Amino acid sequence: MSELPEAPFKNPRADHGFKGRTCSIESVGSYVPEKVLTNADLEKIVDTTDEWITSRTGIKERRIAADDEATSDLGAKASLMAMERAGISPDEIDLVICATITPDMPFPSTACLIQEKIGAHGAAAFDLEAACSGFIYGIEIAQQFIMSRTYNCVLVVGAEKLSSIIDWKDRNTCVLFGDGAGAVIMRNRDGAHGLLTAKMGADGRKANILSMPGGGSLNPASTDSINSRLHYLRMDGKEVYKNAVTAMCRSAKEVLKRCELSAEDIKLVIPHQANKRIIDAVGDRLGAKPEQVYMNLQKYGNTSAASVAIALDEAVSEGHIQRGDLILIMVFGAGLTWGAAVIEW
Ligand code: UT7
Repeated sequence: MSELPEAPFKNPRADHGFKGRTCSIESVGSYVPEKVLTNADLEKIVDTTDEWITSRTGIKERRIAADDEATSDLGAKASLMAMERAGISPDEIDLVICATITPDMPFPSTACLIQEKIGAHGAAAFDLEAACSGFIYGIEIAQQFIMSRTYNCVLVVGAEKLSSIIDWKDRNTCVLFGDGAGAVIMRNRDGAHGLLTAKMGADGRKANILSMPGGGSLNPASTDSINSRLHYLRMDGKEVYKNAVTAMCRSAKEVLKRCELSAEDIKLVIPHQANKRIIDAVGDRLGAKPEQVYMNLQKYGNTSAASVAIALDEAVSEGHIQRGDLILIMVFGAGLTWGAAVIEW
């Protein structure tokens, strides 16, 4: 076992009995469906304009999965890309975690369906539901399994077919979301730092401001639930907006503090891609320069649990991040849930 290299920053995990066991994010991959739905296309579906969508959200287009393409198909494609980049064979994966609010079906889990599609037959598999915050919840859980020596190699997937729960008659929500998937391979590796620290938060008192009320045990599918449009995503956009800015800033500040870092130490900030105005406000409050903040929501809209993973993949592919750079990621979503994490890439 080689010694950990001297880090230029404080690794909070090193103080908590994890010395000698380190975990790296080996690779990232992503997949978005081929079909593009532009703002101009939406103008033909609901009473909206490209000008309104662009100025209020920054979104120009989003991807829509084919009818026969399920969340597990998107997730499997992103996973296979991450596995190839990490040089990992399916039998090396110990655990598959899929973060999603649009599972293929209530059960079995989408993680099990992805496990089968990528051939990781020896892996345990489960879904986690933290809405748009799912990717940070997922990598933190993966890290804990690796640090505790339960598993060596974990696949974390954020995958969504949000087009399947969008009310295409509701202009308040249908312009905001898109489909896609991102995945990372996390693995025990000597000398790697990977996920330095993560903060996860939740506030169930605000569960009602963003939800899909139908289809669960409270409102099982019925003619009534369908007629009342309970099987679609509902959101109080203004309330979500306010809470998103506050919670992402607060958790980002906390993880930076834990690592004794400030915004200028961070190479790239990758926030949840929901709204350009939210991202600008959070970047400003953290004191990050605009060029430090990554944004690709103009191409994909809000892809919930997949959002930060897709953005991470594109930021790496476009050369914005090199190995050893520090990244700050932040998420926010239904629950309410939120989180922030510092990663040494
Ligand atoms: O992943 C986490 C989940 N979601 C989010 O993070 C979203 C957070 N919220 C937001 O991004 C913003 O609140 C929205 C983009 C959803 C809305 O922006 P806003 O500046 O808060 O607009 P608003 O809700 O105040 O709506 C302003 C007006 C309303 O008209 P009236 O009542 O003022 O006459 C809406 O009916 O804009 C109207 N409107 C639209 N007009 C054209 C709402 N949607 C549209 C639309 N096209 N698509």
